[in-house]
Amino acid sequence: MAELKLLYKHIDVPGIETIAQYEANGGYSGLKKAVTLDRQAVIDEVKTSGLRGRGGAGFPTWIKWNGIPKDTSKTHYVICNADEGEPGTFKDRELMLRLPHMLVEGMAIAGYSTLATKGYVYIRGEFVESAMAVRKAIDEAYAKGYLGKNILGKGFDFDLYVHMGAGSYECGEESALMSSLMGERGQPRLKAPHGPLPVISGVWNSPTLINNVETYACVPHIVENGGEWYAKMGTERSKGTKLFSVSGHVAKPGNYEIEMGTPLMELLELAGGISGGNLKACIPGGCSVPIVPADRCASVNLDYEAAAAAGTMVGSGGCMFFNDRTDIVLLMRRTSEFYAHESCGKCTPCREGTRWIFKILDRICSGGGLQGDIELLLNICDQIDGRSYCGLGDAAAWPIRAAIKNYREEFEYWIEHKKSPVGPNCVPPVPHAVNPMLTLTPA
Ligand SMILES: Cc1cc2nc3c(=O)[nH]c(=O)nc-3n(C[C@H](O)[C@H](O)[C@H](O)COP(=O)(O)O)c2cc1C
Ligand code: SF4
Repeated sequence: MAELKLLYKHIDVPGIETIAQYEANGGYSGLKKAVTLDRQAVIDEVKTSGLRGRGGAGFPTWIKWNGIPKDTSKTHYVICNADEGEPGTFKDRELMLRLPHMLVEGMAIAGYSTLATKGYVYIRGEFVESAMAVRKAIDEAYAKGYLGKNILGKGFDFDLYVHMGAGSYECGEESALMSSLMGERGQPRLKAPHGPLPVISGVWNSPTLINNVETYACVPHIVENGGEWYAKMGTERSKGTKLFSVSGHVAKPGNYEIEMGTPLMELLELAGGISGGNLKACIPGGCSVPIVPADRCASVNLDYEAAAAAGTMVGSGGCMFFNDRTDIVLLMRRTSEFYAHESCGKCTPCREGTRWIFKILDRICSGGGLQGDIELLLNICDQIDGRSYCGLGDAAAWPIRAAIKNYREEFEYWIEHKKSPVGPNCVPPVPHAVNPMLTLTPA
């Protein structure tokens, strides 16, 4: 199985990040075509394509676009979620760095179809190089008349800005992102059905469209070639291609663009196979999604439905492979430390629960595990999942639950023998590497 390069077709062309080279390879034809169409016709092409959001949830893109009100008594906004905080995922930063005009073009098309006049690319603070590349692309697009006033002479105005975040996982959650963009604390807001949808009342209480970098990058191709063309790729309900960031114990880590529905093991093959041992497990969609043991990897296909049927998720496409020298309990200890650190503290189940999970796992990995700790961990997961204010809480519980379900004997071994079942090298990091906020309190 080869890669199916749609977004990445020209990624290796020298200078493709410049507007001249991007245009020479067909760039901005999607926008040129879009502005000759009725706005609704563009949304209809996106609908026909079957494109689903690439930020993690796989929500049908056209439904959001279509939900933006048609009246323009308020300014409409288009936002790109370029926070990319999910551990294991590094596709958006590469897209922005190497193909920044594809994002600019996709957002301009989104602006045209949703009657937006302003757009923001909200970029994680650490992605300085990507932000510089996008800024440069925006300047070039203004100079060529693809942004600004009266775009392509069609009476469409659209301004695009880069806004840098400060490096917070929670600010990738769309309502927290909007708060952060408006200069407020990066915490989530009430969502539908308890609060308004962003498409009705988002930033500055105005209609707001939020999509992921990769989602916008697909749009120029869909408009240029038609929704039906795009829908021929992928599976019945998961259309097109998807970027997967492959990392962990593989020979050739990196970003790979594959057709939706590609078997997980073929992605492993593309990445040069497992290194340093035999395959033990895979986390296919970023650290929030359930882990898959090696013996089940062969039954996982990388589309939304097949992954769910196999008990995991495509998520953001951060695909991590682990060899048999990996200690799953230590892996979960590290994962839980991340969530405890990133919890914004707004709601009790997540604020307290994520810290408890980390402290218990740290206790186990420090040789102080107690009988009953596994049940305690599962109980805390139940208290967090579905009871938290936003998705971060759920995301903190899912990996722990799945690890206990699939590798319970490793947790039991740690508790009973006070050491790793994998080998003497599997030890937790030295204490100074642990976040002082999370230090172990005596049991
Ligand atoms: C804790 C948390 C972090 C998130 N981080 C990101 C992120 O970094 N990038 C992203 O595109 N979506 C992220 N999301 C999903 C967004 O809330 C939202 O669904 C997405 O930006 C919508 O774009 P899409 O429909 O194109 O996928 C996150 C969600 C949660 C709950
Ligand atoms: S689940 Fe609650 S504490 Fe956790 S990040 Fe969301 S709002 Fe903040």
